[in-house]
Amino acid sequence: MKNFSFDLPTEIEFGFGLYQELPQKLEVGKRVLIVSDPGLKKIGLVEKIEKVVSDNGFEVDVYTEISPNPDEELVSDLTNYIHEKGSQQIIVLGGGSSIDAAKVASCMAVNDGPLEDYQWNNRSFENPSLPLYVFPTTAGTGSEVTGVAVITSRNTKKGVVDKYIFPDKALVDPELMKSLPPYLTAITGMDALTHAIEAYLGLGANAFTDSLAEQSIKLIADYLPKAYANGEDEKARYKMAVASTLAGIAMDQAGLGIVHSLASPVCANLHLSHGLANSFLLPYGMEFNLIARKEKLSKVAEFLGVKTSGLSKNDSALLAVRKIKELQRELELEEEIEEVTDVNPDLDKYAENAANMFLINNNPRKASVDDCRKIFTNIFYSDRS
Ligand SMILES: [Fe+2]
Repeated sequence: MKNFSFDLPTEIEFGFGLYQELPQKLEVGKRVLIVSDPGLKKIGLVEKIEKVVSDNGFEVDVYTEISPNPDEELVSDLTNYIHEKGSQQIIVLGGGSSIDAAKVASCMAVNDGPLEDYQWNNRSFENPSLPLYVFPTTAGTGSEVTGVAVITSRNTKKGVVDKYIFPDKALVDPELMKSLPPYLTAITGMDALTHAIEAYLGLGANAFTDSLAEQSIKLIADYLPKAYANGEDEKARYKMAVASTLAGIAMDQAGLGIVHSLASPVCANLHLSHGLANSFLLPYGMEFNLIARKEKLSKVAEFLGVKTSGLSKNDSALLAVRKIKELQRELELEEEIEEVTDVNPDLDKYAENAANMFLINNNPRKASVDDCRKIFTNIFYSDRS
């Protein structure tokens, strides 16, 4: 029975075809900038949104230079573009990279620099960001409902955390997720599952976030394989969009843990995507946390649909780990996970980077540099097949 608070300033709207109502949500007379990535431009999604907005009398500019793992340089380029065009409201269409870059740039456009003051020196933004409307195109990141944006800086991934980083509106439209290919559906969905499980097990968990995480885990277990099998399955896309938003809120309010911390050096050294790294590392994190969270992990097994009646908490918790591996197999990630290797890993570097992540302080079991080194040794030197 602990004290807690819950603060979500972002307004959430949800539904198929929501993007068509976008002009009514924008501020009349203010110049619009659409921020996205080259992939979404190529499949015509950016043009679709641009047309809806420009057909309704708005002046619109488009920036589609977002690349994975956005860094300070990209944020600065986007901020300059906002100044150059005189953009007064921002629409972002994309996954975590686009959303995070736009969240920071829409703050930096109306606040004095440098970014490192806000990212590294605890300075708070004085002015609210430009109005920011977020359309997530993956059911994974959850960034549309969080007050943090992850930007690569000083060779590591570091969150910019501020009340003005929260988007004004999260416009969750599963229609825009239908074109996501199966592989990206799988790894972003596994990232959402990691958010829910880490939020549920972490020290910051509370009664509200537990409810969100529980519902999210159940939905992902039921609907991620269906969305993977058929991206046109509207019910599966809808349920996954709900699950990812719930997990996003849970992680923002409760925090993450060792899985995301281990993922940081793995992504940086092996150039793996965030989603694949988390899906690969999730069972390791759960096994590590078993001693501290047997009860809750046995609940996770139930949420994942595992029959646990008559079993001890320990055995049920172990089945939760096994179920994650089954899910990896079902989503055909197994082969790719087996290929994740570093022929000559600098274990000290990996372990220090993970143990220095801020997120690891929320992990239910204390994780030292040595603990992280042991996990990485197990990852790189044991037979994972
Ligand atoms: Fe994540």
